[in-house]
Amino acid sequence: MKGLILAGGTGSRLRPITHTGPKQLVPVANKPVIQYGIEDLREAGITEIGIVLGDKGREEIQSFLGDGSEFGVNITYIIQGEPLGLAHAAACARDFVGDDDFVMYLGDNIFKRGLTEMVERYETGEYAASIALQHVDTPRQFGIANVDGERTVTELIEKPDEPPTDLALVGVYLFSSAIFDAIDELEPSWRGELEITDAIQSLIEDGHAIDSHVVDGWWKDTGKPEDIIGANRLVLEDIEATNDGEVHPEADLTGRVDIGTGTTIKAGAVIRGPVRLGENVTVGPDSYIGPYTAIGDDSTVGGPHIENSVVVGKSELTADTRLVDCLLGRGANIASADGLLPEGNRLVVGENSNLKL
Ligand code: G1P
Repeated sequence: MKGLILAGGTGSRLRPITHTGPKQLVPVANKPVIQYGIEDLREAGITEIGIVLGDKGREEIQSFLGDGSEFGVNITYIIQGEPLGLAHAAACARDFVGDDDFVMYLGDNIFKRGLTEMVERYETGEYAASIALQHVDTPRQFGIANVDGERTVTELIEKPDEPPTDLALVGVYLFSSAIFDAIDELEPSWRGELEITDAIQSLIEDGHAIDSHVVDGWWKDTGKPEDIIGANRLVLEDIEATNDGEVHPEADLTGRVDIGTGTTIKAGAVIRGPVRLGENVTVGPDSYIGPYTAIGDDSTVGGPHIENSVVVGKSELTADTRLVDCLLGRGANIASADGLLPEGNRLVVGENSNLKL
């Protein structure tokens, strides 16, 4: 079985973070989102992985993943160009997949539990495809499935006005190469995309058996800033406390704090886990880092109270201020305006930024 990770898409809902890099490299608990997918595939025994790239962020993704050897997998890059839908992305990978079965994994999705169980069940049956599902509160925003008592899918509808169930397709699909013939017959949907949901529905209509798997634990599509902060929170729930840095005896640490190499926590700093600090991070006196915060490499926290936030890296946070629910892009600096006249906030803000003051 091969793996296919879809990493096209423009990341428009994550601007301004995605003005300077692809959404698949935004870190969750200090690890780029796409790396979670690579690790899930590898754990399920899948090491031949195709990465489908759009026009945006190609070089960055290739330079991060390389040939895959650093991650224990073998990577082939496939260029999709313009994002014309999930089925279009799959079709671009036809030569790479050949006659093999494959897992298609949306590169901005994260799952608490991996794929192993779903892959094992698929391999023991005679299925043309298997889909991952989860109960959701907002079924109109997803592809929705109807399944029978044997977990066989009887109907799939993309973003229905009247959802027959609350079982949404989430970002993992298993396919036989039969899917390519179904994709060949597709017409663009109302949103102008070739929908993978329509391709699977036509397999059902042609009498193929489609299995389903309701995923255990949480699943997150990291398309929006609040999703990144939410996914960060969920991953940090499960971290262990480790210390590869230096913690001053008069620093006050409680809960699980994961401290990277070269990181220094000074006297008077207060940290309440779960918190992950990357490499070469400095936390100064009078700083407070609260639960569900991840601070990326080469950052300084010297003054603020920060909580439930993601700091990508190379940031200088020195203002005596309260930062909550923040997503701060690489190199973002927040300093104090105290003593400067006239009094006020001094902001240099990129396009499509969001500030709540
Ligand atoms: C896509 C799929 C949809 C699925 C969703 C999961 O939607 O078309 O069936 O439920 O991913 O995130 P999109 O994110 O393109 O709106």
